[in-house]
Amino acid sequence: MALCNDATWLVFILVAMCAVSGAKRPVAKESAGPAPAPAPEEASGDGGTFDITKLGAASDGKTDCSKELEEAWKSACGAAGQHTVVIPKGEFLCGPVNFSGPCEGDVTIQIDGTLLATNDLPKYGGGSWINILKVDNLVITGSGTLDGQGSNVWTKDPQAKAGYPNTLVLDYVKNGSVSGITLLNSKFFHMNIYMSSDVKIDNVTITAPGDSPNTDGIHIGDSSNIHVTGATIGTGDDCISIGGGSASITVTGVTCGPGQGISVGCLGRYKDEKDVSDVTVKDCVLRSSTNGVRIKTYVDAVKSITASNLTFENIKMEDVANPIIIDQNYCPEKICTAKSKSAVTVKDIIFRNITGTSSTPEAVSLLCSEKQPCSGVELIDVNVEYSGKNNKTMGVCTNAKGIAKDTLQALACVSDV
Ligand SMILES: *[C@@H]1O[C@H](CO)[C@@H](O)[C@H](O)[C@H]1NC(C)=O
Ligand SMILES: *[C@@H]1O[C@H](CO)[C@@H](O)[C@H](O)[C@H]1NC(C)=O
Ligand SMILES: *[C@@H]1O[C@H](CO)[C@@H](O)[C@H](O)[C@H]1NC(C)=O
Ligand SMILES: *[C@@H]1O[C@H](CO)[C@@H](O)[C@H](O)[C@H]1NC(C)=O
Ligand SMILES: *[C@@H]1O[C@H](CO)[C@@H](O)[C@H](O)[C@H]1NC(C)=O
Ligand SMILES: *[C@@H]1O[C@H](CO)[C@@H](O)[C@H](O)[C@H]1NC(C)=O
Repeated sequence: MALCNDATWLVFILVAMCAVSGAKRPVAKESAGPAPAPAPEEASGDGGTFDITKLGAASDGKTDCSKELEEAWKSACGAAGQHTVVIPKGEFLCGPVNFSGPCEGDVTIQIDGTLLATNDLPKYGGGSWINILKVDNLVITGSGTLDGQGSNVWTKDPQAKAGYPNTLVLDYVKNGSVSGITLLNSKFFHMNIYMSSDVKIDNVTITAPGDSPNTDGIHIGDSSNIHVTGATIGTGDDCISIGGGSASITVTGVTCGPGQGISVGCLGRYKDEKDVSDVTVKDCVLRSSTNGVRIKTYVDAVKSITASNLTFENIKMEDVANPIIIDQNYCPEKICTAKSKSAVTVKDIIFRNITGTSSTPEAVSLLCSEKQPCSGVELIDVNVEYSGKNNKTMGVCTNAKGIAKDTLQALACVSDV
């Protein structure tokens, strides 16, 4: 099933988030003023730590610790200087929580233990599990785990059309980093980055079964300067997906699989969608995923947007079903109204040094629209071979304009006119 991210639900979440952020705007104004409120005395100065067990949280994995976690956040966020929320080793049943800024100083969340998400769905009220809202200079680090305990909802509704909670949401975060932690078995997306900028995600591990629905690893939308490095991601949906409004995104040293690969799109579904530009995916390994690297736009896109300057290089495919794929005619579940009407321009797309094996004969598939052909497509050093015996490797292109160089002859299907 190569469904897009459940876009309907995604937009619902995003709209909800915008509303949250709108409500917080007056607070942002105040804190930007010349005289920040003095911090409470006991929490002033640098280096304060707020350990949830010191605040009374039980490490038994059963007692709800939302109150202690919220309290730790409020103390750390409410004081000037640099402060740390500590989740020590142990199991903690906490959340959902909203960590809302703006903060007086800079906050680090040190996660060394395991946070467990509750399976009491009404508690989420349609929202996500750990929500970071409007926080600048945020650090999330540690060797701990965010366990979404998703198996419960995957089996209940395998299509997961309804809104299940994402595990970790960064919403309007400026200058953040997430490193070291593991995200496990999310009920929905593991990480969702929205309206954020200058965020580094390094050395995270994201794991869910290959057949778990909508468990995307990292989704990025309406954000810029987001850098994902050194991640290991295996889930039931996209490894990393890059949606509308994304600019200057780099993904390097990521190993994906199982799952649906690294994806730009779906694009063109919503009226307020913005361009995607300047994406580099480099030094990655795709292992037994349904797609390798793909760009996907709706056939009946409702707004003219452009996806441009996307580079995919030094990528190793290991038994990937569709290693290189552009689909400008995307239309799941017959929701589209017109054929070949795509208003999403796809241009300046480079596939360079892509090697390994394809589990289907069509290792390259560039299906662009007649009205809006893809242009500036470069296939350079692309040598992916069908790993089966009963057929031969092939590239299939429609309306894909560009050049091929040092590429397996059978894959060099772009045309230069
Ligand atoms: C988090 O904020 C959202 C939006 O304001 C709200 O619906 C939700 O109830 C809040 N969750 C918690 C745990 O406070
Ligand atoms: C970004 O956040 C980190 C961590 O809080 C901080 O040390 C650094 O100074 C911030 N950078 C900028 C440019 O504000
Ligand atoms: C990656 O994170 C783990 C903790 O989960 C840590 O032990 C390890 O040192 C980190 N590796 C790097 C290269 O930072
Ligand atoms: C293309 O995107 C990369 C980042 O992915 C950037 O470094 C480069 O300057 C961009 N090229 C153009 C022509 O905009
Ligand atoms: C091609 O990519 C592989 C990784 O898949 C890398 O080891 C190799 O150095 C790259 N070759 C060049 C010429 O960059
Ligand atoms: C080879 O693969 C192509 C593309 O998937 C398919 O159309 C064709 O029928 C296959 N041929 C054989 C002999 O299986």
